[in-house]
Order: sequence, then C-alpha cells, then structure tokens
Amino acid sequence: MRLLITAGPTREPIDPVRFLSNRSSGRMGYALAEAALAAGHEVLLISGPVTLPPPSGLQLIRVETAREMFDAVRTHLPGCDAAIFSAAVADYRPAQVVSQKIKKTADTLTLQLERTEDILGSVRSQFGFHGFLVGFAAETENLIAHAQDKLLRKGCDLIIANDVSQSGIGFDSLENEVTLCLPGGQTMPLPRQSKTALARELIAHISRLSSPQAPK
Ligand code: CTP
Repeated sequence: MRLLITAGPTREPIDPVRFLSNRSSGRMGYALAEAALAAGHEVLLISGPVTLPPPSGLQLIRVETAREMFDAVRTHLPGCDAAIFSAAVADYRPAQVVSQKIKKTADTLTLQLERTEDILGSVRSQFGFHGFLVGFAAETENLIAHAQDKLLRKGCDLIIANDVSQSGIGFDSLENEVTLCLPGGQTMPLPRQSKTALARELIAHISRLSSPQAPK
C-alpha cells in the first residue's frame, strides 16, 4: 500500500533567529517509515526538522511549520491508502512574526499565540480522505479516555496512545510503550520496546487492520 507518514516536530518562527518547537526527535515516525519500507510498502514521509538520516527508498518532503506540514499533507494525501500522523505538530504559533530580531528592552515580554491548523483533524472533514487513518495521542493523564475521544473526534481508525508522563519512553527517547485504541472501545497494550521493534509491530497491525478482507 501507499503510506503517508508525518514525523518530527514543527518550528514556529518568532523572529528571524527564534522559534517555538518541542522535544520530538522524529525517531518514532522515521522508524515507522523504515518498517513500512521493509514490509514492501510505498512510503511518503513528511518530516519536520530532525537530525536523523532519512531511510533510503522513500519520498521525503521536508517542512518547518505546521502550516507547511498541513499544505504538504493536503497535496500528497490523495492516492494514499493509509496515513500515520506521528508528528508533534505545534498547537500554537506566534500570532505575529516580526521581521527584525526582537531586542531585550523590557523586563518581560508577552507573546501572543494563535492556533495552528489541526492537520489530523482536517483529514476526513476537509480533505475527504477515505483511507486508513492512524493518529497518535501523547497524554499525561487519562490515557485511554483521551485517546478514545481523539479517535472519535478526528475520525481515526486507530489511535496509538502513549503516556508521556513516564520517563524513558515517548518524546525524544529510544523506547516507547503504547496502547492501541480501536473504534468500539477495544484496546491492546503493547510492551515497552525499542522504537525500531515497536514500529515493525505497528506496521504489521496497520497492514492487517487496513486490509479489507482481514477480520478486525
Ligand atoms: N496533530 C496534527 N496537527 C496538529 C496537532 C496534532 O496533525 N496541529 C496530530 C498529531 O500528529 C497526532 C494527533 O494529532 O497524531 C494528536 O495530537 P494532540 O496534539 O495530542 O491532539 P489534540 O486533539 O490537539 O489534543 P490535545 O487537546 O491533547 O492537544
């Protein structure tokens, strides 16, 4: 199948030398891309700024901001059979980007932020995507309840939920421990393991669940 994967953080500029971003390393998304390629799928990776080498054999589109990622997803989603949204997209960006470096004149500085585009949330409603849709839910409390709510709100077929309050897993870590949340309230915990091993397992689940003839 043809698979679109988003990965990494986004950077939202404040001025020519500063930005808002987050701790995402892109490792989970890049591991998923690699595992999907190894399983024989065609992969389009839309990546925010990361230091990882891109796996060879895929189509890579580099973006910086949430808006650029939104545009890239909208352009490239048609023709894909499945999409996995593993990017840690900034939820807010500075409402104004100033063209000159902000000088430290006052003792305090207030930044006004505005919401970014909800990329995953636009896939069904705005882009009319009918393929298999996978989102991530990074939560610090009520993991399963928040993940199930996200699954319904965004029209996903699968949410990969991880508890980011635990150290050593998730954001900027080599390992992850997730729970799969499916429509109908079904959940499946997967054990803590390297992101590489987990990615292989996740791609196998996604291939099985998205196959029209397979039992869900
Ligand atoms: N996501 C996205 N675009 C955004 C924000 C998030 O595509 N602007 C995607 C992420 O890649 C992830 C999923 O949405 O797959 C969940 O992101 P999260 O920020 O946890 O979801 P929200 O609905 O924004 O919920 P919250 O209120 O917890 O921030």
